[in-house]
Amino acid sequence: MEKTIETNSPEETERIASSLARSLPPGSVVALYGDLGAGKTVFARGFARGLGITEPLSSPTFTIVQEYPVPGGGILFHLDLYRIDNSDAALAFGVDEFLNDPGARVLLEWPERIEDILPEGTIRISISHAGEEKRVLRIPCD
Ligand SMILES: Nc1ncnc2c1ncn2[C@@H]1O[C@H](COP(=O)(O)OP(=O)(O)OP(=O)(O)O)[C@@H](O)[C@H]1O
Ligand SMILES: [Mg+2]
Repeated sequence: MEKTIETNSPEETERIASSLARSLPPGSVVALYGDLGAGKTVFARGFARGLGITEPLSSPTFTIVQEYPVPGGGILFHLDLYRIDNSDAALAFGVDEFLNDPGARVLLEWPERIEDILPEGTIRISISHAGEEKRVLRIPCD
């Protein structure tokens, strides 16, 4: 099952991400699908806030991975795989350590680059443009 949520501002997208973050245990991997400018990084920002992270979240386009300690325990890994060609290239930089860290929450932008090695249980969320400030989020639910 999947729920479809329409948001009308970046703040609204952040709020949805924030409440999702509070509902997911450590070990969760969240794959964020969507075009350039869809709102994956905005979603990540809200997700980080939901975990109580106050440090500003910057886009890891050039660094590929950013990590943030989560108050209360664990770590958030935010990966942007846009510049990674495929899963072999991702494994070469050690992506499996991030994906399989039981104490970490992991957010992936451009997860399609490593579709073939996404762990079982990866939560797949898609964000699509539906207007200037409108986005449609598709989030799995049971
Ligand atoms: N409802 C909305 N939800 C999220 N972002 C929105 C919304 N409306 C407008 N925006 C704008 O869309 C842009 C989304 O940018 P963002 O960097 O999050 O995209 P992205 O999916 O991470 O792109 P990239 O693939 O380049 O990393 C921001 O400028 C944000 O302000
Ligand atoms: Mg981004």
